[in-house]
Amino acid sequence: MLDLSHVRSCFPALSDEWALFDNAGGTVPLGAVVDRVATYMRECMVQVGASYAQSARAQAAVQAGHRAAEELMNAEEGEVVLGPSSTVLAGLIANGLRATWEEGDEIVVTDLDHEANVGAWRRLEETGIVVREWRFREDDMALHLEDLEPLLGPRTRLVAFTHCSNLVGRHHDARAICDRIREAGALSCVDGVAHVPHRRVDAKALRCDLYLASLYKICGPHVGVLYGRREVLERARSQNHFFVPEDAVPYKLEPGNVTHELVAALPAIPEYLRELDRAHGGEGTLDGAFARIEEHEAALSAPLLEFLESRSAVTLLGPGMGPDRAPTISFVVEGRASNELPPLLDAERIAIRYGHFYAYRLVERMGLMERDGVVRVSMAHYNAPDEVARLIAALDAVI
Ligand SMILES: Cc1ncc(COP(=O)(O)O)c(C=O)c1O
Repeated sequence: MLDLSHVRSCFPALSDEWALFDNAGGTVPLGAVVDRVATYMRECMVQVGASYAQSARAQAAVQAGHRAAEELMNAEEGEVVLGPSSTVLAGLIANGLRATWEEGDEIVVTDLDHEANVGAWRRLEETGIVVREWRFREDDMALHLEDLEPLLGPRTRLVAFTHCSNLVGRHHDARAICDRIREAGALSCVDGVAHVPHRRVDAKALRCDLYLASLYKICGPHVGVLYGRREVLERARSQNHFFVPEDAVPYKLEPGNVTHELVAALPAIPEYLRELDRAHGGEGTLDGAFARIEEHEAALSAPLLEFLESRSAVTLLGPGMGPDRAPTISFVVEGRASNELPPLLDAERIAIRYGHFYAYRLVERMGLMERDGVVRVSMAHYNAPDEVARLIAALDAVI
C-alpha cells in the first residue's frame, strides 16, 4: 500500500471529512500544481515569444509544460498537442485529418467510448465520410478484435476506440488493437483518458497513431493532451491561422495558443510521480510510481467489488477483480433508479455520482437511461482503505 500520509499531504483539497470517489470525473489537483499556476501568474504573466527577459522566462515555463506532457506519454519533442480538453483536441484532429481523406473513405468508432472519441469522428459523416460502428459485447461489456475484423476494409482510414471505458472500467489490450489497425493500413485514435490515471502510458510501445488524455484526471490542471505520431500530426491540415506553416507541430493544432498558466504547471505531475516512487524506496521513475499506484488501487477496489458481487440486487458493469480492472466501478441496483443512491451518501460525507457519464450510447444500448444511468464509484490512488470501508458500510445500509 502507498504511504497515504505522504500522498495526501501533497493534495491540499483532501480532507478527512469527505471521502471523494468521483475521481474519473476529475481528481483534486496537487498543491504543487496550484503553486505553479500562482507563481506563473504572479511572476511571468506576459506574452511569450518576445526578446525581453520576462517573456523568455514565460516561454521557457510553457515549453517545460510541453516537455512534461511528452514525458507522461513517453513521446518525442513535438509529438504532444495541448488544449483545453480531450474533447476539443479530438475535434481538432478529426477536422485536420478529414482534409487528407476522400469522400467515401471510412472510419470506425465504438459504442463503448465516451462521446469525446465518437462524436468528433461521427460528425465527419456530414462531409461524406462513411462511419462504421464497432459494438461492444453485452456479456462482458468489452471490445473484441474479432468484431472489428469485418469492419476493416481498403477504405478504412481510422479506428477510434477506448483504452479503458470511463464507465465499465476495463483496460483493453490497446497494443494488440493498434497492431491490427496498422496492419489494415488505417490510423488508430485511442482514448486513454480513463487509463492514464491508473497505468503508465507509453505511446511508443503501444504503437498508436493518436492518443488522448486529460490531465485534470491525473492530479493536474484542466488541460487536454493529444499525442500524435509526428508524421500523422504533420500530415493533418493546420487548424490554426493561414500563415501558420504546416510543419509547425504542435502549434498548428493549438489555435489561440494554450492556457499558459495551466501548461506551466504541468511539470508538477511527473515530478510528483517520481517523488512518489522515491518515497516508497524506488528509483524515482514513472514506471515505478505506476506499479505502486496499480497495487494500491487494486487493494482499494477488491473489497468494494467483493461487496457488490455479494449483493443479489446489484448488477456490476464490467469485470470483477483482475489485472484489466480499473478502480472505476459502476453498478445498478434492482428496483432503484441510480439517482437515488448518491444523495443518500452525501449525508455520510461520501462523494459518488450517477448518470451516463457521456458514455451515452453504451447506457442507451443497455436500456439504462430510464433508470438514470448507473451509480459510479471512481477511485484515485489518494483514496484510503478506511474511506472504502465507510463507503461499503454506507452502501450496505441503503441497498
Ligand atoms: C474516457 C473519457 N474520454 C474523454 C473524456 C473527455 O475529456 P475532456 O473533459 O478532457 O474533454 C472523458 C471525461 O470524462 C473521459 O472519461
